[in-house]
Amino acid sequence: MRVQVGIVGAGPAGLFLALLLHRAGISAVNIESRSRADVEQTIRAGVLEHWVVELMGELGIGERMAREGHVHDGITLQWNGERHHVDIAGLTGGKRVMVYPQHEVLRDLIAARLAQGGEIVFEVSETRIRDVETDAPCIDFRRTAEGDSETIRCDYVVGADGFHGPGRQAIPKALRREYQKIYPFGWLGILASAPLSWHELIYANQGDGFALLSTRSPEIQRMYVQCDPADDIAAWSDDRIWGELHARLDTSDGWTLTGGKIFQKGIIPLRSFVCEPMQYGRLFLAGDAAHIVPPTGAKGLNLAVADVLVLSRALVARYAMNSQEALDRYSETCLRRIWKGERFSWYMTTMLHRNAEESAFEQRIHFADLDLVRSSRLQAGALAENYVGLPFE
Ligand code: DHB
Repeated sequence: MRVQVGIVGAGPAGLFLALLLHRAGISAVNIESRSRADVEQTIRAGVLEHWVVELMGELGIGERMAREGHVHDGITLQWNGERHHVDIAGLTGGKRVMVYPQHEVLRDLIAARLAQGGEIVFEVSETRIRDVETDAPCIDFRRTAEGDSETIRCDYVVGADGFHGPGRQAIPKALRREYQKIYPFGWLGILASAPLSWHELIYANQGDGFALLSTRSPEIQRMYVQCDPADDIAAWSDDRIWGELHARLDTSDGWTLTGGKIFQKGIIPLRSFVCEPMQYGRLFLAGDAAHIVPPTGAKGLNLAVADVLVLSRALVARYAMNSQEALDRYSETCLRRIWKGERFSWYMTTMLHRNAEESAFEQRIHFADLDLVRSSRLQAGALAENYVGLPFE
């Protein structure tokens, strides 16, 4: 197989890139270790920054989102039994976020890519990236467990294959700098059949720590509570989950969360991670292969799409104008945005969680941070600008 760009991974980074390249007449193929059903059904985050919503419209994949997604003008912060509305649209000149789950975005991306005749090879194994320091890099893989080994010959390889994929490992260890922070807490996430309890997302730090009230539809709600990342999900009965959600989301004026039937639950750990640089020879990393954020700032998917927007522009400059400069600066350009996404995600995470490893002093500082957002328009504006998506420089 011969294409201009070989993409390892068919998650948000890999698929957005394939669509962006197709628009510019650059050929690409995606290979993916998971099955299509797995990619389309795994429950992940749900908030899209304003420019991602616009980009989906430009790429012709905004129709179902416009119908089924929910535009949010603001978010609610809660602590000490009280709520405070952060007017995201009012603080950012009218920018809004969209609540539309990642697996729905993936369904739209895959359908659009296949409709344009693009190839996505699912369920590949034994993926190997090689010769990226030459002008003829390759990706070897096996299509099925029994199949023969195949090779994609390309001009450029993109590792959009997630934190555990082979992409990052193809950069020699001696050239990689990796930065990591593991948080001593995780999130227990649920989906429940229940009516909407509140008109916007609530990020709360109350009782024993963090809770997030989000939504999927008027009938299905998404909620999270801080837990021990080592907890067995079996230790969390539905009654215990509702008990914790009430303790963290009910307010002192008598408002109480509406319950329902929990039909999905799982625990995820929280970590921050960055790999520098994000390129080596003709290999470029994008998305979780190069950086992870804890989910509190809703930045994971948005940072992945930002990477491939930068990369697609650089590849267009390379093919259309024979200019190498933007490609050479890919890592540097992306990392400036990524580190601000890392900072915001860390800020929201530390401000909103109870951390047993922190002193009482530090915990007080987090409540002062929250109160600053309530009382200072500039502080609220900084939060809003980061949440809705920083401008591209
Ligand atoms: C959702 C997830 C997040 O991490 C977040 O910050 C907001 C919403 C969600 O799954 O709906």
